[in-house]
Amino acid sequence: MVIQANPPEPPPEVIEDPELREKIYKVFRDYFKKAEKKRRWNIDTDIPWDQVNKDVDPVVADVIETFCMVELYLPDYLAKQLPAVRANRGRAWMLANWGYEESKHSMVLEDWLIRSGHRTEKQVREMGDDLFSREWNVHYGNSRSAVIYTMFQELATRLHYRNLRAIAAGRDPALDKILELVMQDEAAHAHFFRSLVQLYLEYDRERTIEHFRHVVRTFHMPADSLLAQGRQRMANIRALKIFDESIYFTEVYQPLVQVLGLTKDELKPKKVHRVS
Ligand SMILES: [Fe+2]
Ligand SMILES: [Fe+2]
Repeated sequence: MVIQANPPEPPPEVIEDPELREKIYKVFRDYFKKAEKKRRWNIDTDIPWDQVNKDVDPVVADVIETFCMVELYLPDYLAKQLPAVRANRGRAWMLANWGYEESKHSMVLEDWLIRSGHRTEKQVREMGDDLFSREWNVHYGNSRSAVIYTMFQELATRLHYRNLRAIAAGRDPALDKILELVMQDEAAHAHFFRSLVQLYLEYDRERTIEHFRHVVRTFHMPADSLLAQGRQRMANIRALKIFDESIYFTEVYQPLVQVLGLTKDELKPKKVHRVS
């Protein structure tokens, strides 16, 4: 008998139930309706570009660059995730819409780096070129774990932008507006993926919690291993108190566990007994 204290990723689910797919599509339509009505914004006309402060601390510009680099991996995020959900319209259409919204994030951050004088156009171009020498890959081989991971990651991303905004607030009205708009998008993304996790829990609580436990054990943000000078970049983010393990625990993990109604007992690691 083999006892595994740390089991591998749960096996991929078979094609999702048509009824569940229909519910996911409804969640997407609701998300899309609200996005169209309340959340669309324009890079050129909604940012007070004439109020960019060229004296913002270069450390803040470095963090903006880090966030921009993570956003720039969009082609990988889409290309690697779309094939697995092409028959799941709510998930696929969401990726298309999510991709549109995320594409604005890197563009607006690049524009700020250039307009603030912290980077030249050439530097920004080289940053993008260098980036694609490395490739982002999906962390999870099945869509339920991927949705749970994205729920964590989007909420964590919102907090990164919120906490950076708190540091930069009042010193650069253009940056303040950018971070406000991006942060609102990230909050909406987090809410969408959380709604999907709630659906999965209603539909198949036990397996969904198995996926949840797996993601919690293995969670890390994309910047950790993907970016040039990734460790230094993460250290800067920690030093500025934009994000760290304690923020993750109190403002990501705990609130999600609470809102999803998961109990301590359900979250305890389960031992897997396998007959060898
Ligand atoms: Fe984003
Ligand atoms: Fe996002």
